[in-house]
Amino acid sequence: MINQREQWGSKLGFILAAAGSAVGLGNIWKFPYLVGENGGAVFILLYLFGVLVVGIPAVIAEILIGRTARKNPVGSFRSLTRGNPFWVSIGFLGVLAGFVILSYYNVIAGWSLGYIIESLKNVFAPMENPEKAAALFGSLSASARWSVFYSFGFMVLSVIIIMFGVQKGIEKSSKFLMPLLLIFIVILVMRGVTLPGSMKGIKYLIKVDFSAIRPQTVLLALGQAFFSLSLGMGALMTYGSYMSKKDDIAGCAVNIVALDTLVALLAGFMIFPALFALGMQPEQGPALIFNILPVLFNSIPGGYLFRILFFILLSIAALTSTISLLEVITAYVVDEFKISRKIATICFGFIVFLIGIPVALSFGLISDLKIFGLNFFGIMDFLASNILLPLGGLLISIFVGWVWKKDQVYSNLREGLKISEPLLNLWFFLIRFVVPVIILFVFLSSIGIF
Ligand code: PFF
Repeated sequence: MINQREQWGSKLGFILAAAGSAVGLGNIWKFPYLVGENGGAVFILLYLFGVLVVGIPAVIAEILIGRTARKNPVGSFRSLTRGNPFWVSIGFLGVLAGFVILSYYNVIAGWSLGYIIESLKNVFAPMENPEKAAALFGSLSASARWSVFYSFGFMVLSVIIIMFGVQKGIEKSSKFLMPLLLIFIVILVMRGVTLPGSMKGIKYLIKVDFSAIRPQTVLLALGQAFFSLSLGMGALMTYGSYMSKKDDIAGCAVNIVALDTLVALLAGFMIFPALFALGMQPEQGPALIFNILPVLFNSIPGGYLFRILFFILLSIAALTSTISLLEVITAYVVDEFKISRKIATICFGFIVFLIGIPVALSFGLISDLKIFGLNFFGIMDFLASNILLPLGGLLISIFVGWVWKKDQVYSNLREGLKISEPLLNLWFFLIRFVVPVIILFVFLSSIGIF
């Protein structure tokens, strides 16, 4: 039977879609606040190390699995291991991680959509300090109606794109949204770095202070590299399954990682120079973009417009990631149960939205409901970022480095490959020895084993 799987229309289309998956709330929301909490430039340096040594090899490995098997994560492991139940269940773990991440990620994405509307209504204009913005954020996120409404709206956007399929949905929207995102972020960076007093913020981002390193900083930087590159759950595997055998996996991986890293760095340069210019402290934590930024824009000429632009930017970044999460689930259901893409997308989009409702409510109505001191949102985030993703990433690297036959790995990767043999060997060395050891270390530490 002819394999009727859809393919990307072009290599650029694939790169932009995969970079879209990688670039998301992780870059614009999480990366800046982690930089702010962990000593600035030194955190960035460790992050870059993680991206180079773990990120690039792992991205190549995931795309390779998907492109070779041409299936969703479960089907990919099934076909590459002749149905070995252990490996099939690892694929399943990826789909499960997709469910978990999408259910809470979509809630935060919904907030950013809601903040576009609040910004248009100019509700932040009368606020002279972040406490007021924090109070507003507290009441909005605690309002079941507000947050469930916008998370529903955001899910509808993702469902519409995924319903149109790989080329007409994911590729077309990424080709439009990613350049737009880059333009918006460059405009906002230029605004930030041209404010009087912004130099302090720029220095904060480039002057490395090694005394700020703590053991935990290394862990956080690596974990962030992982989350930011959408590694460990089969998103890149699924996108890779639509890739042509003529294209160069390593070249694409380098481009994807470079774009993701560029946007994270630009996000730093968008936020910190402005923050320092206005005399605020960098250690703001997760509330940074919802509590601090809306007020920050008040003191900036053209702030009304720039604020709207910022939340559109955040929503675009989130959307190109939520679609990749929904695609993992959709590809699984379509491949395995032969349900039509449209029906699968609508049903599962709705189910994930329903799972997200308790997450949305965990900031208000059910905020007292806690397990191990974590609310529902905290539990989902912990489960995904600290357990499912590192475990998935570890096993994927073990699979490619140790379980899959080496000559198969090489011959599949060589198709379309443009890198030299020594580099190919370096990649294999990294994926076999270095990546699993580093991930294992991160994983054991994050669950508190050492
Ligand atoms: N990489 C996304 C971000 O940085 O926001 C998050 C993410 C998307 C993780 C898709 C995993 C995934 F499959």
